[in-house]
Amino acid sequence: MKHVFNEGKDKTRPTLLMLHGTGGNEFDLLPLAELIDEDASVLSVRGEVLENGMPRFFRRLAEGIFDEEDLVFRTKQLHEFLDEAANQYGFARNNIVAIGYSNGANIAGSLLFHYDHSLKGAILHHPMVPRRGIDLPNLSGVPVFIGAGQNDPICPPQESIDLQSLLKNAGASVEIHWENHGHSLTQTEVMAAAKWYKNHF
Ligand code: MLT
Repeated sequence: MKHVFNEGKDKTRPTLLMLHGTGGNEFDLLPLAELIDEDASVLSVRGEVLENGMPRFFRRLAEGIFDEEDLVFRTKQLHEFLDEAANQYGFARNNIVAIGYSNGANIAGSLLFHYDHSLKGAILHHPMVPRRGIDLPNLSGVPVFIGAGQNDPICPPQESIDLQSLLKNAGASVEIHWENHGHSLTQTEVMAAAKWYKNHF
């Protein structure tokens, strides 16, 4: 997968896996990684699906309606890419924290829904429930931050509430931070995520 890897000053820190939103690329979220943990290594990946020329991490049939078969396939592909990248760059596979926005948050959520030990933790900005009606792996000890908008037209509040309870039922500890700025990723949401990260890692 197309990506950038920046080795951090402190190899004991988690590797931050950056996952952009629809129409983004592997460079978009690099400043965000810097704000969350300036000493961490960063692996930032570009989604391989194109929707009208816009990169995404998996196909959708319509806004908010995911192509589940493609989601499952792309999630496996990303999971395996993380194994390869850890080998190639020499970082700990079991110490990856994902930071995703929108479509990127959804594929990060999907990694949590399909694989145990794929992520050590996750910051999900404006996510949805990636898939319903499946059994989740055991996620005990996995901390998750959800940044959500009370008035987000793309990811309605109920999605975040459902996502929180599904992850919690699988053993994860989940904190939701609410904003009132639609689907945007605001500075205050990023600061809340940074504070949460410092408390957990
Ligand atoms: C998705 O398709 O993953 C969500 O609807 C968010 C987005 O627009 O990327």
